[in-house]
Amino acid sequence: MKILVADDEKLLRSSLLEIFANWGYEGCPAKDGQAAIQLLSAQKFDLAIIDIRMPGIGGMDLLQKIRAMDANLPVIMMTAYPSVDTAVMAMKYGAMDFYSKPLDLAKLKTELERYSSADHARKKNTGAKALSFLDGESPVMEELRANIKRIAPTNAPVIVSGESGTGKELIVRNIHALSKRSCKVMLDQNCAAIPDTLLESEIFGHEKGAFTGAEARKPGLIERAEGGTIFLDEIGDMDIRLQAKLLRVLQDGDYRRLGGSECLKADVRIIAATNKNLLDKIAKGEFREDLYYRLSVICIHAPPLRDRKEDIPVLANKFATEFALRYGKEPPGIDKDLLLLLMRQRWPGNVRELRNCMERAVIFSDGNKIGLEHIPSQYKIQNHNMEVLPLPSLPDNLAPDSEAKTASEKRDSGTILSGARKNLEKHMLLEALKQSDGNRTKTAEILGIHRRTLYYKLKKYGMLENDNS
Ligand SMILES: Nc1ncnc2c1ncn2[C@@H]1O[C@H](COP(=O)(O)OP(=O)(O)OP(=O)(O)O)[C@@H](O)[C@H]1O
Ligand SMILES: [Mg+2]
Repeated sequence: MKILVADDEKLLRSSLLEIFANWGYEGCPAKDGQAAIQLLSAQKFDLAIIDIRMPGIGGMDLLQKIRAMDANLPVIMMTAYPSVDTAVMAMKYGAMDFYSKPLDLAKLKTELERYSSADHARKKNTGAKALSFLDGESPVMEELRANIKRIAPTNAPVIVSGESGTGKELIVRNIHALSKRSCKVMLDQNCAAIPDTLLESEIFGHEKGAFTGAEARKPGLIERAEGGTIFLDEIGDMDIRLQAKLLRVLQDGDYRRLGGSECLKADVRIIAATNKNLLDKIAKGEFREDLYYRLSVICIHAPPLRDRKEDIPVLANKFATEFALRYGKEPPGIDKDLLLLLMRQRWPGNVRELRNCMERAVIFSDGNKIGLEHIPSQYKIQNHNMEVLPLPSLPDNLAPDSEAKTASEKRDSGTILSGARKNLEKHMLLEALKQSDGNRTKTAEILGIHRRTLYYKLKKYGMLENDNS
């Protein structure tokens, strides 16, 4: 197991390396955040242990940076100045644990041992393939990943839209990680979470005495993320007055700290996300049209999960593995019936809801298989959250019990069964087309598949002759 050790104290660095070597792990030292980022982008690590207070890029920023580069790398944070706030923040950014200095070596040793055996299990189960970032095999997800690659290297602002839980934040982190700014930090701010004045001071910074309690000058996000990216989440909730200030940054690159007169130059890429319809907000006079057009040079839409049901088996398996490792279990298989049921849900909370559902299932399962009995009953009763029609068939390679099939069963599934399935699928397509008077968008909606998937299927069955939509 290879461990990155980032700490500005030379003595601590070298003693940790020595201790790790004694425990049989390979340690690799980084004297600050910058050095850590360089190492991480050049080599593969199994774990990182990071000091919070370091000059330049501090531990907390480094942690966020790591999350953008590798969602799965386990990170342990350590500090000589522990506080509840920093511990909470570390957990929020996905740290595996939080240690105060001096380190409790016995605890660390146990934790590393536990992790390295789980890591071994993970490698065994996922092969050499690194867990990819934005998972999903639907055509829309493929297109989304291709678009991200295309737009990441530009400096253009981006706006990411989509319902709650569709992966907007993950998309933003991917864009930054693949951009030329990835060696600098990405800082984020949720515009709905705090009052307007505070938001202004967070983004633009403030001068000493700008408001009661402003005891010293504080640099804002734009200043702290210089050369990097800022991610403004829930931009639709930003106060209209602040919107004007942001527009100025986008247009001229100029801004002032709150209570300050000095005009500062911004060097940040701005990426925003929203789960609201900004055009509606513009119509209501709550969002500036000019800001919208500046921000939306590039728009990316994260489609709801119900429009890309093909992604559900992949995601369900990914989350099952992730949580099994977190809870110290062997990664389980998922029963085929359960997968089919999951594919029939409407998932109003999208990928996040599926993830939570799988976490619960992993906790409740005790064997090495997750089945119908491990998910909450709300998913099992026919309700408005469930599609009435059966769904696109499960890809054979994803059916977890496909290996268990006998040779003759396999032969059957290649002939009679798959023939029947095709007939059924054709029949469903025709029915849905009839119901929607041939309107493809509606047909896709009825079937709960993406429009493009529908197109492929129609093409596959030679049903595209009357091409009128
Ligand atoms: N394609 C994907 N592959 C793997 N994990 C995903 C994918 N999409 C979303 N997730 C996971 O689902 C959860 C929700 O995603 P995220 O926080 O990015 O959603 P969001 O659109 O920002 O939601 P909200 O609008 O509520 O802020 C996260 O745990 C994220 O890692
Ligand atoms: Mg979000």
